[in-house]
Formats: sequence, C-alpha cells, structure tokens
Amino acid sequence: MKHFTYQNLHELQSDAERLGASRVRFEEDAQRVRSILARPVQVGGLRVGNSIAIHPMEGCDGSLDGAPGELTWRRYERYGSSGAKLLWFEATAVRADGRANTRQLWIHAGTVGDLGRMLERTRQLHREIYGAADDLLEVLQLTHSGRHSAPRKVVPSHNPYVDAKTGVPADYPLISDDELERLEDDYVEAARLAHAAGFRAVDIKTTHGYLMIELLGAKRREGRYGGPLENRLRLLRNVIGKIRAALGDRLLLCVRLGCFDGLPYYKDPETGVGVPCRYEAPYPYGFGVDPADPLREDLTEVKQVIRCLESWGVKLLNVSSGSPYFNPHVGRPFEKPDEGNYEPPEHPLLGVDRHFRIAGELQQEFPDLPMVGTGYSWLQKYCVNAGAKNIDEGRIRFFGVGRGSLAHPDFAREALERGELDERKVCKTLTFCTFLMRQKNHPMGQFPCGCPPFDKEGYGQIMKQAVAAKRAEKK
Ligand SMILES: Cc1cc2nc3c(=O)[nH]c(=O)nc-3n(C[C@H](O)[C@H](O)[C@H](O)COP(=O)(O)O)c2cc1C
Ligand code: SF4
Repeated sequence: MKHFTYQNLHELQSDAERLGASRVRFEEDAQRVRSILARPVQVGGLRVGNSIAIHPMEGCDGSLDGAPGELTWRRYERYGSSGAKLLWFEATAVRADGRANTRQLWIHAGTVGDLGRMLERTRQLHREIYGAADDLLEVLQLTHSGRHSAPRKVVPSHNPYVDAKTGVPADYPLISDDELERLEDDYVEAARLAHAAGFRAVDIKTTHGYLMIELLGAKRREGRYGGPLENRLRLLRNVIGKIRAALGDRLLLCVRLGCFDGLPYYKDPETGVGVPCRYEAPYPYGFGVDPADPLREDLTEVKQVIRCLESWGVKLLNVSSGSPYFNPHVGRPFEKPDEGNYEPPEHPLLGVDRHFRIAGELQQEFPDLPMVGTGYSWLQKYCVNAGAKNIDEGRIRFFGVGRGSLAHPDFAREALERGELDERKVCKTLTFCTFLMRQKNHPMGQFPCGCPPFDKEGYGQIMKQAVAAKRAEKK
C-alpha cells in the first residue's frame, strides 16, 4: 500500500494530525529551514559547523580483510562533499568474529592506514568545497555484531522470542564473562587505532540488536554482565572507562543508543502485513520496553543509562530504536519492504512519530548532551522541514539522515542553500539498499549495498547482478 501520496506539506501535516502523529511537525519557511540547519552545535570542546548529520550507513563493500574498498571511498568522498558537518562513519568491527558480513569494515593494524587515508580524503574534499574542515566532526562507529556475526553467531543472552526469529537454538552457548572481559580490550585497541587513523571521535555502538544493546537488555543473563542494570552496563562502562584511561580527552566518546528494542514481527501469510510475535506479559527481555506492554517504550532505564553515560564523559548521543532483523519498521519507517519481508504494520508516520517522541523526550531531559535524531528519510523532501522544527523547539540538536544520504548525498548542501530538497533526488524508502545488504551469493560472500534507484551509476549494475544471483539461487 502506498502511504506517501502527498502533493504538498499541508497534506502531509494534516495526515500526521489525523493519525495522531503529534510530534511530526514542520518548519514551513525555507529561509528559516536554512538558518536553523546552519546553526553550529557544541560537542565537547568542538564547535561543529552546522546541525546536519549523516548517519552511519554500511556499504558492505570492504575487502575481505576489512579495509575500505572502491565503493567505500566513493561513499565517503560523496559525504565529505555533502555539506553535513557531522559524519558518522559506518559500523566497523573491533575484531574478526564480530563482523556481520565478509565485507564489513574491520579496524586492525593492517587496515588502519587505509581508514586514515580515506578519512583524510573526506576531509580534503570538504576543505576544498567549504574552505575548512576544522568544524567537521567524523565519528567512527565501533561494533561487535553479536548474534548477527557471521559465520558464527556470538550470543550474549537468550530471549526466546528473538532466538526464534534469528534462528538461535535455546541451548546455544552464550559468550562467557571472561570472553566479554577480553572483548573490552579489543574495543580499547580499536579506539586507539581509530585515534591513530585521525578520527576525533568514536561511537561505542549500542543499538540494532547487536552485542552491546543485547547486553543492556540481558535481564535474564547470569553472572557479571547480566541481571541488574549495573551488571548489564558493565561492558559499556568498562569500555568507556578504559578508552578514557588510555586516551584521555584526545578522543571524543559518542554512543548510538537503541532506546526501544520492541518485539520481533512476522509476516502474516494472508495479508503480508507485519504482526508482533505472540508474547507473554510481563516481558522480561529487551531494553527500553515496557514489560507490561512491550509494544510500547518505557524510558526509565534508558534515562538511567544516559545519566551514567554523561557522567562517564560521553559527549554525543545518537538516538535510535529497533532491530533491522526483527522489526525493521521501527528503526527505518518504510514505504516498501525489502523482498520477502512484511508490509508495515502501522502507518509509517507513526514510526516517525515514535522516533521523534523518544528523541524529543530524551533531548529535553538532557539538554547538556547533544543528540542526533533518526527516522527522517520516510518524510522524503520534507525531512528538512521536520528536522528544522525539532531543532528549533529544542527537541533534538542534530538532524540525522540515513537512507536519504545514500540516495542524495548533496541533500545537506541543498538544504543549506535553498531550504528545500529536490523531489526528484530524494530517497523514497523503497528498501533496495536493504535487499542488497541481505544478498550473500557473491564471490566475496556479500553484495555491496547502496541506492540503485537514485545512484544508478554506482549500483544499477550491482542490483542487476544481485537479482540474477537470487534467481539462480532459487532454481
Ligand atoms: C543500508 C543501510 C545500512 C545501515 N548501516 C548502519 C550502520 O552501519 N550503523 C548504524 O548504526 N545504522 C545503520 N543503518 C541504520 C541507519 O543509520 C538509520 O538509523 C536508519 O536508516 C533510519 O534512518 P533514515 O530514516 O534516515 O534512513 C543502516 C541502514 C541501512 C538502510
Ligand atoms: S534503495 Fe535508495 S530509495 Fe530505496 S530506501 Fe535505499 S536509499 Fe532509499
């Protein structure tokens, strides 16, 4: 079903009102959009040049040893030129067994040189176009993919509902406390290398169903890293503490935090629409979920965690939700699902509203900690109007764009110059990028992922090959 049928901003706004998506509001005046998005933001000791962020967007196009490939370079060259002043570099594994696919970036002694050169190229292009890169902040996202690691899943805790959805047997062995402790040092080494490569900031990725967020929700895990919140926070606390001990204030610390895990969804075989798994309440799993009604967020623990992060010296938070593996409509409100997946179980405007509601409440509760908002791309060309409104009302500090940046990396420059986006170029949330991400039938074990409809030069041919490979697989 087509949801985005609006001819103008007024139609979109009145549909949001009709649906009760009361946080989805817009700055209508293009001049004000320009000036609001151009506002600098103080992050720790650094004044970031404007309020536009590009979210981490994995391209699955590295080499088998984790170095950036040709398409990775191309993506960051485009981002460096885009005009956004906060560039969040994609998920980069801290060790080999934490990679989600064979071509995910992986930072180690053999790849740090290439990562540094790619970063410098990004900055150089930015400098050439905008005169300076001192006010450009690049964050490297450090990750361990946990149960989504390939080929071997690394599971930090069992949740029968998530296990069923992700193909993990109930008796699959959990990563031990001692291994988790060793992993702390891998994060520290990765952060040290990121600093050596020239990054001024790292993100300890704690979202989207990967290892760190699963631990935050590991209420049923026994031992030092599970149970009470203090234990569930142990890995994150130790990683942050050890990085600060090693590098002091030389590296800014950031966290992308999944603030609402939600429940796994399945495709209804008759309607094709997503339905939540059958569950029993109280639901003793997950992070940010209301145990009495896990379809709703409960931000009590989320706020406790953010309070801790602030006190441990974290300077920037990127607010996200959901898991692309078990409830993609939560994290990435979409128009069309990726092949085989479910149709959205709610109007995507309600998904956008959830993002804005959660991020708005958190930013207002923690005004001294700048936050990046997520979930704007479904709004297509009007995402800039929504971003400006949220910033102007103090409901977020950075307007962050994910899929929209793959489709149209120059969106930031356009927004800053004209206060509006070109409808012909913006992402239409058709989800071909996720389709590519799920395709493994490639000589390197993974197809690169980007935006075939709006970046034909980069991905038109790749899409054709992926479709052909998929057909061959089915035969
Ligand atoms: C192809 C693709 C790759 C992504 N890679 C990452 C990633 O590396 N790290 C991350 O935290 N989120 C990743 N995301 C999630 C996005 O950063 C973002 O949260 C999501 O797309 C919703 O924002 P949007 O509505 O602006 O697209 C990815 C999403 C897509 C579609
Ligand atoms: S393939 Fe392109 S248009 Fe489709 S969701 Fe991804 S970025 Fe947007």
